[in-house]
Amino acid sequence: MQSLPTHERSRAALDPAAASGWRDWFDTQRAAVDRLLSEHLKALAAKAAPHSRLMDAVSYSLLAGGKRLRPILVLECCRVCGGASAGAEPAALALELLHTFSLIHDDLPAMDDDDLRRGRPTNHKVFGEALAILAGDWLAAHAFGLLAAAPVPADVVPRLVAALADGSEAMIAGQAADIAGEERPPDGELVRYIHRHKTAALMETACRLGALCAGAGRPEQDALASFGRHIGLAFQIVDDLLDARGAEAEVGKRVGKDAAAAKQTWPAAFGVAESVAAAEREVAAAVAALVMFGPRAQRLRELAEYVLRREQ
Ligand code: IPE
Ligand code: IPE
Ligand code: MG
Ligand code: MG
Ligand code: MG
Repeated sequence: MQSLPTHERSRAALDPAAASGWRDWFDTQRAAVDRLLSEHLKALAAKAAPHSRLMDAVSYSLLAGGKRLRPILVLECCRVCGGASAGAEPAALALELLHTFSLIHDDLPAMDDDDLRRGRPTNHKVFGEALAILAGDWLAAHAFGLLAAAPVPADVVPRLVAALADGSEAMIAGQAADIAGEERPPDGELVRYIHRHKTAALMETACRLGALCAGAGRPEQDALASFGRHIGLAFQIVDDLLDARGAEAEVGKRVGKDAAAAKQTWPAAFGVAESVAAAEREVAAAVAALVMFGPRAQRLRELAEYVLRREQ
């Protein structure tokens, strides 16, 4: 993270033109999301004094420094539709909470049985399985509570809640298919279903929530949802490639696990070269979905390109 003075950082967070290059912009957005998450947890602790060990488990995973892609999508899609990003902050937090819930449960022994996440021991390794399950439960429940209190017109709130419910249910269905798929030989149709659901659905939801927070009409909402769906699929294909070929220190999680667990992955079903080509096609389709937004969507285009070349 480039060390900008605080006032410069917050100016850049509000006005993407103030952050010069893509990397500066992305780092600034990540730092802004990190700050929102810390402040939210601090405010909760001061107000309600919830069960402290549970909240330690929640904070441990939430503040472990992920890429924050989903909340950044919420904020940027809101801005692209002409909304003020402050109005989308609760929705941005909600997406990161829901995502973190999915990661904690994904790492459990009953699922992928992983011991490293975001560069540190997984939640259940530190807090035990029961608390890891409960921390995930808390994060999911709290995400919906955040949306209920979002600073948007009253008729928008149920649409936010319905969109997050759709995305969450799809993610969970994708996770169920991912686990069941371990018993089956590589199957292209099945892997498409799994990736579309376990990963692309929440990215789609992030983009739709951003548009809804801005009060955008149906065409803008649908275009951004399509953008999110395509980068989400590219994102999971690249995740599969990183598991097959990436470096543990950079990825921040164990690699080589998918083949060992006989997971349904894009490279297993289609091969590495076709996986790279498929991710490129999905990113091209994502960028094509942004045409109606013109130059305003430049950061989203750059974000789509980043999904392809990321090594983390
Ligand atoms: C990991 O998501 C789970 C997948 C959908 C592949 P991210 O790679 O976005 O995880 P963090 O939030 O940056 O840790
Ligand atoms: C999990 O996919 C996606 C969700 C958590 C919904 P993976 O199992 O491939 O994610 P990683 O590789 O553990 O992050
Ligand atoms: Mg998994
Ligand atoms: Mg996993
Ligand atoms: Mg993976």
